[in-house]
Amino acid sequence: MVSALQVAIDGPASAGKSTVAKLVAKQFNYIYCDTGAMYRAITYAALQQHMDLTDDIAVAQLAKQTKIIFQPGDPVQRVLIGTQDITEAIRQPEVTNNVSTVAAIAAVREELVRQQREIASHGGIVMDGRDIGTTVLPAAEVKIFLVASAHERAVRRYKENVLKGIDTPLNQLQEEIELRDKKDSTRKVSPLTQASDAQKLDTTSLSIEQVVEKISDVITKKQHEL
Ligand code: DC
Repeated sequence: MVSALQVAIDGPASAGKSTVAKLVAKQFNYIYCDTGAMYRAITYAALQQHMDLTDDIAVAQLAKQTKIIFQPGDPVQRVLIGTQDITEAIRQPEVTNNVSTVAAIAAVREELVRQQREIASHGGIVMDGRDIGTTVLPAAEVKIFLVASAHERAVRRYKENVLKGIDTPLNQLQEEIELRDKKDSTRKVSPLTQASDAQKLDTTSLSIEQVVEKISDVITKKQHEL
């Protein structure tokens, strides 16, 4: 019998993690969990309630009370808070530009990491984020660290935004990405770092299909080893 593995995919903003993770999960019939969407969901809920995002205690309390639900769907997995579908709302610039503040709150991370471990507990999962290989699933059998140049990532986000009708200049997107990289890599709790046993994959000049194929090869090889 082939093993149902835990696959951790980490990397900076817009490195293509979610696109690739979704396709890999589909190929192996694994669950896909977008942990960035969970931090975004809490940010969205806090903004809706006009909360002060630097009020760690209030935001952490909100994280404990908020029921985030992933609803499988093709091509898009829906994200809900209770019965409210927030799939599109959590991608709006207001959420994107505030999520680093919420993700830096230790008590928020503690709660979301607890939920993420529960989701991954039976294996057969592809989880993407910033700290999956280092903190959430340190025993994951497959760990990939995806990188791409900041310019390439800004171009990718620009193209995604055009399709969604969001009009932000390319240079502004690149600046926002660089700022988010800095915040994510320098925060005190679980900063974005490559796990020592993760494989680094630079996607700057690779197509989505090529990246998916490389990761799938790693998973298949691992499945045969176990
Ligand atoms: O991948 P994304 O852009 O949807 O992530 C949104 C934010 O959440 C980003 O600023 C980093 C943070 N994040 C995190 O700190 N830890 C994770 N496991 C996933 C995302």
